[in-house]
Amino acid sequence: MSAVLERVLLPRLGFAAAWREAARGLLLRRVPPEQVDWQRADDSPGLPLFGANADTPVIGDEEFRMPRVLLGLIEDVLCANVPDRFSLPYRAVWRAQAERHLLGDESDPDMARVRVLSKLVHRDAHKMKAFVRFCEEASHGDRRAFAAWFEPDHFIVEATAPFFARRFGDVDWRIETPSGCAVCTNGALRFSAETQKPAALADPTEDLWRTYYTNIFNPARLKVKAMQSEMPKKYWKNLPEAGLIPGLVASAEQRVIAMRGAEATLPAARSLRMEPYQQPAAMAGDVAPDRRDLEQQILDCTRCLLHCNATQAVRGEGPDRAAIMVVGEQPGDQEDLAGSPFVGPAGRELDAAFAAAGLDRASTFVTNAVKHFKHSMRGKRRIHERPGISEIVACKWWLEQEVALVRPRIIVALGATASLAVIGNGTAITARQGQIEQSLFGPPVIVTGHPAAILRMPEAAHADRLRHELAGALRTASRAV
Ligand code: URA
Repeated sequence: MSAVLERVLLPRLGFAAAWREAARGLLLRRVPPEQVDWQRADDSPGLPLFGANADTPVIGDEEFRMPRVLLGLIEDVLCANVPDRFSLPYRAVWRAQAERHLLGDESDPDMARVRVLSKLVHRDAHKMKAFVRFCEEASHGDRRAFAAWFEPDHFIVEATAPFFARRFGDVDWRIETPSGCAVCTNGALRFSAETQKPAALADPTEDLWRTYYTNIFNPARLKVKAMQSEMPKKYWKNLPEAGLIPGLVASAEQRVIAMRGAEATLPAARSLRMEPYQQPAAMAGDVAPDRRDLEQQILDCTRCLLHCNATQAVRGEGPDRAAIMVVGEQPGDQEDLAGSPFVGPAGRELDAAFAAAGLDRASTFVTNAVKHFKHSMRGKRRIHERPGISEIVACKWWLEQEVALVRPRIIVALGATASLAVIGNGTAITARQGQIEQSLFGPPVIVTGHPAAILRMPEAAHADRLRHELAGALRTASRAV
């Protein structure tokens, strides 16, 4: 066995950036993984950062290549609470230099572990986004201030805090954890190794939240195992609603019996008026999925690697029984942040087309063929990348379920990706523009161009033609139903 020659000490905060810097230096000096001893600075007090060899050269980015997907996975592994969180990623990047197909090798033990750890870290981050509960505390300025206590399994606070900064930019907040805290003041995010568990605060909105939780708890849908896997017991102590759960579970059976025994209610007059217009039953599968289950499953989706780098999955939006379903390609940058489809520049073009067609967007179900934002980084910018066939195929699972849920009478496919997902043919969209074709899921489809194509069109006259075609397709759909 070769002796360890390099000791790299990484700080407790900013460890990911420090690891990247150190790994780059080691790779350029061709230091093999077995010669590196990775440690966290506070595990080895008294040793200087970056250990004995502080002569790491300054390195340009292009001097070695790395698949982006691997970099994304590695960022996750660095946050994992496991002893090899620094050494495993280095071994993976080291091997990736010589083994071109490493990333796709499902049977490779290093890559298998990288994927498992990435999943664990993602799950932990997802739980943090779901289970952080803020309480309002005294504010020292004119912005409201909130504090929360959260106990993650992994070192995810630095990687996950920007999500909260984007979402709660209009207030000051701090999330304290046993190993440090994230603080956001006037929109500026900082981290500290010091931690101070917020004193038990009485937040008046907690009662409101408990009442709401009790009311949305549906005893007929109770699946204790699924609930505990989604909301593991270890999080309960910091969730105000958790105290209600045992009582709600215990009374569920009785409540279901009472619900079954109760008189059937009459439909509202409004729904009677709608009956003649109702859609044929079961066009896409016999059993419509439960919307909340489906949405949660989409949020948790790891069917392809796109979830690794996206903020969240973007589910379709619209009424449960919309007559028209509009399918786009995938969420863009703004959709990825907002969690809603078509809210960015392409969404504004789509809105204009809806208006021109005299069709209310809110009456349609708007979704995408692919639910996660695929992109690459250019500097700090996230640049859209077209989803590949494997991602479209992996995500078709969800589209099919959305069609089964909504049972639209007609689908509008926006662009080649949507057409490929819905019809199985993504070619020659211009030639097929406005054509009505058969979907793989049952309902007919109108094929038209994607609104983003309008934005890319340099000539105003061409852009106007595309606008006209898009509005025309929506108008045709509207007339057809
Ligand atoms: N482009 C799409 O295809 N979908 C969106 O949601 C946004 C942009």
